[in-house]
Parts: sequence; C-alpha cells; structure tokens
Amino acid sequence: MARVRKDVWQLPANDKTLFWYGEAIKVLQAKPITDITSWWSLAAMHGIDKQLWIDLGYLDASVALPFDPDAEGFWNQCQHGSWYFLPWHRAYLAAFEAILLDAIVKKGGPADWALPYWNYDPTKRDTLKFPAAFAPELLDDGSKNPLWVKERYGRTGNGSIVILKTDVAVGQLWQEPEFFDGPGDIPTSFGGTQTAFSHGGTGAGLLEQRPHGPVHVLVGGTKEGTSSDILKNNGLMAMFETAGIDPIFWLHHANIDRLWESWLTARHHPQDPPDAYKNPTDTDWLDQPAGQFVMPRPDGTTFTTTARQVLNTKDPALNYEYQDIAIPGQRPLLVARLNRLGVAPADANQLAGALAMASRKSTELVGQTSTAVRIAGAATDASVQLDSSATSNLTASLSVRPQAAPGAAPQAPDRVYLALENITSTTDAGVFNVYVNLPKGANPAEHPENLAGVVSLFGARAASKAGGPHAGAGMTQTLEITDIVDAMHLKGELNTQTLDVKFVPQTPITANSKVDVGRVRIYRQTR
Ligand code: C2O
Repeated sequence: MARVRKDVWQLPANDKTLFWYGEAIKVLQAKPITDITSWWSLAAMHGIDKQLWIDLGYLDASVALPFDPDAEGFWNQCQHGSWYFLPWHRAYLAAFEAILLDAIVKKGGPADWALPYWNYDPTKRDTLKFPAAFAPELLDDGSKNPLWVKERYGRTGNGSIVILKTDVAVGQLWQEPEFFDGPGDIPTSFGGTQTAFSHGGTGAGLLEQRPHGPVHVLVGGTKEGTSSDILKNNGLMAMFETAGIDPIFWLHHANIDRLWESWLTARHHPQDPPDAYKNPTDTDWLDQPAGQFVMPRPDGTTFTTTARQVLNTKDPALNYEYQDIAIPGQRPLLVARLNRLGVAPADANQLAGALAMASRKSTELVGQTSTAVRIAGAATDASVQLDSSATSNLTASLSVRPQAAPGAAPQAPDRVYLALENITSTTDAGVFNVYVNLPKGANPAEHPENLAGVVSLFGARAASKAGGPHAGAGMTQTLEITDIVDAMHLKGELNTQTLDVKFVPQTPITANSKVDVGRVRIYRQTR
C-alpha cells in the first residue's frame, strides 16, 4: 500500500502527521550543512545565497561548504521556467520525504508517514488561510515550534498571510490540454516550455505561473522597512535561494505535485487531441539526455533520476498517493459566454470541445504595446495597439453563433490570450493583478469580470540575470482573456484601435524594484 499524502486541513484533531513532521525537522536541522541529509543541504539543493543565509542566521560563515554555493549543480538545482519543473520538484520532494521518514521511523514514528499538502482550494474559503500549525512561534509547552520561521512577511509586509481565491485560480489548469510547448509558443502549456536544464528560465507553465508563484510570494512577501538590500527584506518563500528553509514550502509543493495528478484526470472533450491531459512521450523529457536529477538518500549517498522514473507515484521508489485528486468544479470553457448566448447544454459541450481542439500552432498576433511598461505604485496603465485586420478576424470569430440547424456543428469563438513577455525584475517578491478594459476611473476591486489574472514575480530575478542560460530575457506569462474580450464584443466595445490593460500591484512594488514588462501582446488562437 502506498503511503497517503493527506490534506493538512482535513487532518483529524488527534492526528500526529504534523507532530512527526516537526520531530523530523528538528533532527534534520541539528545536522550540519555538510551532511547532504541535513535540512540545510536539502534547502540549498533548491537554492542558496551564501551571504544572505549568513545574514539571516541560517549559515555559520566559518563552515567550509561541500559545494560551491554559486554554482548550479547538486545545490541550486531547482528547475524553473522549464518543462522539467514538475518532474524535478517531484523527485526532490520524494527524496526529502524519504529522508524525513527515515528520521521519523528511527524516533519510533509511523512507517507510513507521508508529507501532507496544503490544498488552497479557491472554492473553499477556509483552505486559503495559512495552515494554523505553522503560524505560532511557540508551542503550548513553551518550546519553539519547528514548523515556524520568522521570515514570512505576507502580502503587505506585516506578517499577515492573506491569499485570495483569484491568487489560486486553478480552474484554468483544466482548460489547458497540452503538457508542454515550444520556445516562444503562446499560450503557455500546463507543464512548461521545452528547455534544456533551467534554473530560472523564461518558459514557466501554467501551474508554475499560478497558483505556484503567487503562493510563494504571498507567504514570503517583503518586510516593511527601508533596508536598501531587497533580498534581505524578502521572506524565505519569496526566493529560490531561501524557499526550502521554510517548512511550509514542502506542503505547498506537495499540492503543486497533487495538481499535476489532478490534471491527468481532467475531463476530456470529444475533439481533444490524443495527447490531451497526458504526460509527454518525448524522450528529451522522459530520459533527459542533457542531464539527470541528482538526489540524496537517507544513508547520505546520492542517486540520479529522471522524469520517466517519477511518473508513477505508487512506484516503490516513490510509494505515495494523494488523499484526494478530484478537480473542484471543472467547468466547460466559456460557460459565461454560453450562458449569455443561451446555448443548450449539449451544444455547450460541443463548443467547449471545439475550443479545446484549437492547436497552439495557429496563433495570430492581434496587438501589442510599443514600449516596455514599468510596474510600480498603486497602478500602471498600458495601451495595446490593435492591428485592424487581425482585430476584424477576431471580431468575425466572436460573431459566430451556434447553428440551430440539426446536425450542424456549433462553432466556437477563438481563444484570446494576453501575453506579458520578457518580464524582468530585481525582486521576486511581487504579485500584481492584470485587468483588461476597466471603465475609466473605475475601482478595479469592483470589476472582477475585468480581471485577466494574477501574476507573480517568483523566478523573475533568475530569469532576468544577464549571463544566465537565458541571457536575461525575463519571464513570459500568459493569461486567457477570451471571456473578457467576448463580453466586450457582445457589448459593442471591441471596435477601437486599442485595448486598455491595467496592472494593479497586490504587494508593495516600487520603481526601485525595476519591474518591467518588455511587451504586452494579444494573441488569437485560431481554429
Ligand atoms: Cu522550485 Cu516552488 O519552487
């Protein structure tokens, strides 16, 4: 029987899962960083910044480190902006879990212990709260809570962690049938862009973009204060180099890993391509000829593994499954539109299928900004210049109404995407909302129907580094805006030469952070 990773919010009152997690953390934290099974080396595998760790008190400056803290190798190994994001983090969590389990069993704990997950479910408000056991500094007996760390500054920097349902909008994951995409493809796929090994590239998949990124930043955040060193102000979860130190990191990633399992069960539409909602069969992904993941064993030795070796979580080497991978409220695509048009449910299903079938290879640029946009302060406006012939193609597609004639296939409108290309930043600790076509002078908070989505800067700093593998190209994120554009069209508001986009920071973002969106583009995915 595979061990069961349980929902942290559904643990029974007398459950010992988190108690044993804390006990294992104490064991691993007592080991020196030179031991690859220590808490510190495990966190450094994700990322390390030597000076920052020393400044924060997590590293003794006099210790001779076993690996170069500036090199990408066994340490600084995490895969981001890449189609390896999901398999790498799965292998990493499994290695971590095995080391914890070993410590737990040696202390007399349960042999079926498994890492719990934090399911921030946008349909259940209470699950968005920060898991209670991780919050207090001290336990009832006055001892230090091993699940606590100081550097969790939250959304505004005052330590209160507030996550909104729009920050963790998982619904869009079930509308993206393809696991990976090619460099420069719009829209982004579920699992990321086909890349070589990447410690912070441009091509984050939808799951990595959100909810993954916003949860990192909204927990870590940036401390209120005036230190000129941006990194020192950031919470642990807000940066690759420190995220693994925070015990909540592992529950967050267990949930990301669980959402991958959920995606594999997403409802197919009759016209979906044969590889819809399936893992890649490409051997560059499965077998990683470019290099394998290197992981530690509880006995202090290492082993290598690949995506192929982590696909089945019930395989004895991984030996876990999730308590629940059900998809909350998967809705057919464009329900709002179909309701507006009064489409019968049977036709609606066919429409949704036709939409899912659209190939990513046929996208047309509809419009773009002419200059980079710097995001700062309360809000930043950008105006996207629309190409008139591409816009009339789009309008024509939106004008299509389902055919009432028996036997005639209903036609679907094109899907429309807003791409924020080449986002560069000197900080990872930022989250902003993106609105499209807000009425003049309107309060964005009163117009959720104009919210294209939430974007986090988690990973932006690594992707911005000149000289890195991607030479500072920054990140690209895509937001589907079909519903918004379709509603505009129905109201006759799409007949202009521009589309207004408004960036509204959720976290403090100053001009000092140099958050630039290289280009805002709108694409239509044709059928
Ligand atoms: Cu490698 Cu959530 O980060």
